[in-house]
Formats: sequence, structure tokens, C-alpha cells
Amino acid sequence: MLKPIDAHAVELAETAAAAFRATFGSEPEGVWAAPGRVNLIGEHTDYNDGFVMPFALPFYAAAAASKADTWEFHSTYGEGATVRAEDLGSAAADGVDGWAAYLAGVAWALNESGYPVAPARIAIHSDVPHGAGLSSSAALECAVLLALADLYGHEIDRPEAARIAQRAENEYVGAPTGVLDQSASLLCMEGNVMFMDCRDLAREQEPFDLAAEGLTMLVIDTNAPHRHADGEYASRRADCEEAARLLGVPSLRDAPRHAYLDDDRLSRRLRHVVSENQRVLDTVQVLKEGLVARIGPLLTASHVSLRDDYEVSSVELDSAVEASLKAGALGARMTGGGFGGSAIALVETAAAGKVEAAVIEAAAAKGLPTPRVFTARAAAGAHRVR
Ligand code: GLA
Repeated sequence: MLKPIDAHAVELAETAAAAFRATFGSEPEGVWAAPGRVNLIGEHTDYNDGFVMPFALPFYAAAAASKADTWEFHSTYGEGATVRAEDLGSAAADGVDGWAAYLAGVAWALNESGYPVAPARIAIHSDVPHGAGLSSSAALECAVLLALADLYGHEIDRPEAARIAQRAENEYVGAPTGVLDQSASLLCMEGNVMFMDCRDLAREQEPFDLAAEGLTMLVIDTNAPHRHADGEYASRRADCEEAARLLGVPSLRDAPRHAYLDDDRLSRRLRHVVSENQRVLDTVQVLKEGLVARIGPLLTASHVSLRDDYEVSSVELDSAVEASLKAGALGARMTGGGFGGSAIALVETAAAGKVEAAVIEAAAAKGLPTPRVFTARAAAGAHRVR
């Protein structure tokens, strides 16, 4: 019997198992759950071989699954849907798009990576907010990856599993993302924030007990649609590659600290990546010294750099960050890819209500969507639930 390490994941797994029974008329062989994440600091550094610092959120995608003769996917989103994908060998399998592409993509990527899988029936249930920049797609991919690997007897170590899930997203779904989200979902540990070097996926878990320090991390989902997110993301990656080429380094991780380029835009992209990597290292240092509240200014500096140098913030994110800081937050920043999605704010617990109210009021005053604010806790990474 596996020990349930997150009661909420167990509840979601029950719902996924019930959806499996209702759709396929049998008991699933198992249920696997994988969480969404926030990134504390280290943004747009992953695809530059740099440093990131995510922690898992207690929102999970649960995959109930059994081996089968044909691929059949069901999801409880919206109306729920059953998709039959007869042929996963081609990245353009007919009828496999939307959420189902993440499932098919993982099966495809496992096959391509030397871990052959035969068909399965999979029912998905997830409460990771969709479109909020909290990695709902990585959660899906990672839950399904663990399910298929277990069903077909493959022992894949977690860093390699993260690369395979990333490959599904990059090559099958077609989103040119880095390895942050899948690593966070598969490798984060309850009560910790994970410091990771994206070059070799070397990791350190740093205890992250905010409550013990009288602190709270608010997540502010701006409820704003990601605008131009895909094209802009790809263009930032291209800028970084061009900057690295001009500097003659393999990636911006290797750029000298005070490197400079004549092109103003590329120079600002470069300055963001180099300074953000340093801020991650500084954050680790501050956490090791047990001075959690002191990470506040690093978070805020990260936001300013993402807003001005990297140009990936949005009116909604800036409003959330500014209102948080004005209401007394110790630090605040956008988290994830940007152009909408979520921000985080580190606050003294006694001030959490005031900051939440200020964020909502600021959005209303600017005619922006009403943000949803909740308290983050560092949850468990992906695991088999039953
Ligand atoms: C998105 C991508 C990640 C990472 C972040 C920015 O979440 O999926 O790979 O690049 O943006 O840090």
C-alpha cells in the first residue's frame, strides 16, 4: 500500500478513478498525480542553461490508467471527451489536439526515447488552474508519464522523465518551452523550494517553511488571458540564442557578468538573464542563512528586470505587483512565462488580507479582470497515489 503523501492529491485521484470507471466500465490499474508549480525566482533562465527555484503547489493533475488495446483518453474538463488516437507514431495524429495532445505527446516521447509503451486507457482530472501560468500542462504530462512508465515497467529516473515530458511539449505539442515546469512537477518535495541548475538538472532542496517565520506567499492569478504568449516566448528564446552567438558562448549562462552588446534589445535580454541567475544564487544564500524575509527585494528586482529588460510582464501583472508592494508586501513579482498568468507576493501573514484587498481594488480601479488570490504552500511532487 502506498502512503498517501498529499490528502488533496488522494481526493483528486478518487475523482479521476471514478471518471475512469464511468467511462471505461472497469477499475483503473493505478492512479498517478502531478502538481502545478510557482517559480519563486529564476525566470526565463531555464532555456539559457541557468538557475531556477520552483516549488510545487497543492493543485494536481490525476491520471487514472490501465493498459489497453487502443488508446482512449477521457478528461473531466468541460464536457469531458473521449479521443481515440490510433497512431501515436506521427506527431500529427488525427483528432488529437487540445488537452489530449499532452497525453498523446507523452506516449510518443516515451516511445521515441527508448521506453516503448503500448496503448492505454487514461482518465484525467485536474484542478491546476488552466491558463494561469501555474503549469497545468506540465502537470498533465507528468502524471501521464508516470502512469505509462509504471504500467509498462520502465524505471526512468526523474530528471530524465522531466526531459521526456519536455520533449512531448516541444516536439509534439509544439510549444518551445524549457525544462522548468516538468522538473518542478516531478522533482519538487513537500515543504521545500528546489534550487536547480538547468544545465545538468543538479538540485538542492531548501526548506521553505514560511509559516514558521510569520510569512505567507500569496499567488495572484490575474485572470488575464495570455496574450501573444507563444510568439513572444519564442522570440525571447531567439534573442537569447542570438546574444549568446554574438558573445561566442554556448548559452547565456556562460556570459561574463558585465557582458555588453551593441544592440540595445539584445543587451537588455542579456542583462536580464545574467542578473536573474545571480538573483537566484543570492536567494539560495539568503535562505541558507535562514533570513527568508530578506528575499523580498530580490523578488521585486526580478520583476523589474522582467518588466523593463525582458519585456514579458503585462498591465495586470504590474498592477498586482505594485499594489502588493504599496500595501506592504516584502517583495512581489510575476511568475512563469508572463504576458498574463500569475504573480506572487511575499507578505507578513498579518498583512495578507490587506494586500489581497489592495490587489483586487487596484485591478478594479484600472478596469482589469478581478484577480483570484490564494495562499501557496510547498506541496509534494508527482507520485503514484494508488
Ligand atoms: C514558461 C515555460 C518555462 C520557463 C518559464 C519562464 O513557464 O514553460 O520553461 O521558460 O516560462 O521562466
